[in-house]
Amino acid sequence: MFASSTYHHRRQALAQQFSDHGLLVLFGNEESPMNYTDNTYPFRQDSNFLYFAGLEDTGHFLIIDLANGKTTLYGDDLSLDHIVWMGNQPSMEEKQARIGVELHATYEQGLETIRKAAKAKQTIHYLPPYREERVSLLAECLGQTAAATRQGFSEQLCRAVIQLRSYKTNEEAAEMDKAVNITRAMHLAAMRSVAAGQRESTVAGIVEGIAIGGGGRLAYPCIGTINGHILHNHHHSNVIQDGQLYLLDAGASSISQYAGDITRTFPVSKTFTDQQKDIYAIVLKALVDCSAALRPGYAYLDAHLQAARIITQGLKDLGLMKGDVDAAVAEGAHALFFPHGLGHMIGLDVHDMEDLNENWVGYDEHTQRSTQFGLKSLRLAKQLEAGFALTVEPGIYFIPTLIERWQAEGKFKDFVNYDALAPFLNFGGIRIEDNLLITENGARLIGDAIPKGIAEVEAVRL
Ligand code: GLY
Ligand code: MN
Ligand code: MN
Repeated sequence: MFASSTYHHRRQALAQQFSDHGLLVLFGNEESPMNYTDNTYPFRQDSNFLYFAGLEDTGHFLIIDLANGKTTLYGDDLSLDHIVWMGNQPSMEEKQARIGVELHATYEQGLETIRKAAKAKQTIHYLPPYREERVSLLAECLGQTAAATRQGFSEQLCRAVIQLRSYKTNEEAAEMDKAVNITRAMHLAAMRSVAAGQRESTVAGIVEGIAIGGGGRLAYPCIGTINGHILHNHHHSNVIQDGQLYLLDAGASSISQYAGDITRTFPVSKTFTDQQKDIYAIVLKALVDCSAALRPGYAYLDAHLQAARIITQGLKDLGLMKGDVDAAVAEGAHALFFPHGLGHMIGLDVHDMEDLNENWVGYDEHTQRSTQFGLKSLRLAKQLEAGFALTVEPGIYFIPTLIERWQAEGKFKDFVNYDALAPFLNFGGIRIEDNLLITENGARLIGDAIPKGIAEVEAVRL
């Protein structure tokens, strides 16, 4: 947790963006039952609440009253019964001081404040509720249906929060360095331990253990698989075999909940085959060249398109694609092999602020989201600014069903040498992902470098 002044300044900066006299309501998360009430999923605080209040506890929310600029923290002191089961916790008074708000009151008093404001037709700004329990609670307080509550969030509040959270301060960047350094240890341990005959779950366990040992946990479900072509593969039941590639996309969240999001792909057999090296070298070039181009004023869409051109040129050099590179990229033929975006913002959330609307985070009035296969999955396209933290994660995948479907449809046959793809149908996929912070003149890696050159990776494997 940062100093109380950090949260105070953030709330002030938020309130300053409003000219009405309504309420800004920022809910924390509650426990979420896994199979019965007291057996819960690991608790994760709401990131917006964390940003403005810093508290990790359940059962709290903030209301900023725009009429007088005062913030109240709502929540309840623990009963003796709770203390018996959970131990002593800071009192509401202590929490109020810790986060620098003007007032505190009980949870029920907070709900009553919302009910009264709704009856008085005061403007109540709230963020999109992504849990149904929150929808029901708000619907009751606002005296409206669940559907109206889901739609009735405040675009102005979303945009105001995005405006603040998009720019990482030095103290946030330091936390992100910590998250990536724990993540680095996860990847190095995986690179050192993967062996033929193991189940993918063995590696997943090692990786998750290091995240927990770092004081936080995984920032998102680990993708650790020999089937790297399945983009969000969360199953870990395959037995790893010699000759295969192992793709690990895993990140820790630090104690303060900032996320790391790193991908490395390495050979199970200690050294890459020539075929694997050929594809790996293209992905690595896309990562290195695109990272080097990042700077304020550069549109991330251009970085994505640069990656697409490098991938297309590389596959053309290998005889897997053909024709004019720029035309292939403009028409989207490369998306057969690179069907996702080059990257996204990262911060308290691995896909930072995605609950507030991807397009408001990654696009602006100059940048419209494409509907083209591949490009439509690009989460960040707008011009970069100092303080943005983002991922760069090019990949090349051989997805048999997609290849078969496009070949049968005769799709992009002027750009794809379908006949040359037969030796790649069991290849899997390669993605390499780093996290970078945009600086005044360029960009820097977040955290210490993690091996990614072919010789470097092989040296860790041996
Ligand atoms: N780990 C998910 C992603 O890279 O976007
Ligand atoms: Mn990732
Ligand atoms: Mn990512």
